[in-house]
Amino acid sequence: MPRCQAPRGTRDLLPAERAAFARLERIALDLATRYGFQPIETPLFEQSEVFERAVGSATDVVEKELFRVHAGRGEAERERWALRPEPTAGIVRAYVQHGMRNLHQPVRLTLTGPMFRYDRPQAGRYRQFWQFDVEAIGDPGPGIDAEIIELGARFYREAGLRDVAVRLNSIGDGACRPAYVERLREWFASQHDRLPPLERARLESNPLRLLDSKDPAMEPLIAEAPTITEHLCPACAEHFAGLRAHLEALGVAYAVEPRLVRGLDYYTRTAFEFYPPTAEGPQQALGGGGRYDGLVELLGGQPTPGIGFGLGLDRVVLALAAQGDEPTAPPHASVVVVSADPADTVTRLRIATDLRGAGLRVRADLGQRRLSRQLEGAARDGAHFAVICGDEITNGQVQVKDLDAGTQRTVNLADLARELLRAESQHRHGPA
Ligand code: HAM
Repeated sequence: MPRCQAPRGTRDLLPAERAAFARLERIALDLATRYGFQPIETPLFEQSEVFERAVGSATDVVEKELFRVHAGRGEAERERWALRPEPTAGIVRAYVQHGMRNLHQPVRLTLTGPMFRYDRPQAGRYRQFWQFDVEAIGDPGPGIDAEIIELGARFYREAGLRDVAVRLNSIGDGACRPAYVERLREWFASQHDRLPPLERARLESNPLRLLDSKDPAMEPLIAEAPTITEHLCPACAEHFAGLRAHLEALGVAYAVEPRLVRGLDYYTRTAFEFYPPTAEGPQQALGGGGRYDGLVELLGGQPTPGIGFGLGLDRVVLALAAQGDEPTAPPHASVVVVSADPADTVTRLRIATDLRGAGLRVRADLGQRRLSRQLEGAARDGAHFAVICGDEITNGQVQVKDLDAGTQRTVNLADLARELLRAESQHRHGPA
């Protein structure tokens, strides 16, 4: 085994998988644009406080999974940084920092990129993973909640995943959640002996987190615990009913899941997750999101409502493969320029450069080997055409070989790019 390996929980995306991610990124950006979201980039690391405040100190994401960054010199001695475990906190920090409340509301932002969590690695759970994220900041809903859930469901359809299920809940707000959390605390306290040690500690700091514990010992307890849905205040109940009515009007199928609370502290009211249809055993969400009406204020802004989602791209690639859609590497080049004179790399490179300028995907074979070996290499690349430089080059001509048909003809260099573009398009779409 080589001495240097990618860090545990991370992996290299080799060309086939990278192409699958690139495809999902294109779908994400195209969709987000159609829904009026504008791309934003925030730093891959932030002051730890941004995540501690936003996500919450008593969450797995901050307590156990935050990658803290210690540069250990200069300003870094005073700063506490962490790699972003999720994008919402950074985007909301940017919303406040750049005074975006003065823009037309809601501000719709989207970001696709890597996130970092020091999680225990397993299938579908990595320490560096990718999310497609959207955030709409400045609209109290519930119409926009439905719009965002519909966007998420459409992303999976356009990616080619069939029958992704939407699970939905309302987790209340500052008016009704405290009383529910108190009931939950009392109920879990009555079960104290059955609680694992970490959950006992959290019972004091954050009882709601017990509902999304990953500890299998918690499963039966969670199933018996009181649900928030029975404790919503009239305003939250009305918002939830409004969201459901909008989803029904849009034809988005969903199932209400009263124990869905999500693993981050900033949520209020709407919480939702997307699941693959055949998920069995301990299930991993493909994506999730919800409303965070207190978050802008927590990060120093004026009270402003917001909602968004994060969809895990790694899990979409896995789910597509489980469905039989394995990633495939993109072809290297459609044209390879070869030469009867193995030493003449200049002519090959010059022709390749001209053809690239015309928009073709071209490789010049620069290995100084026999013509037959160069042609074998072109076929192995999956190229459609070989441009062969031979004696005719002195008359401004080359041979073009159709590698699939096995035919060959002479073409003037002046016509080469046009001829190849036409032949390439026939290859893609069939003869005109
Ligand atoms: P989250 O549920 O923590 O939400 O993450 C969203 C998605 O990221 C998950 O459903 C999953 O697909 C993927 N994911 C999370 N952790 C891992 C991991 N270790 N390995 C692979 N994939 C992972 C958020 O991050 C919120 N910021 C979503 C949001 C946006 N809420 C409002 N706006």
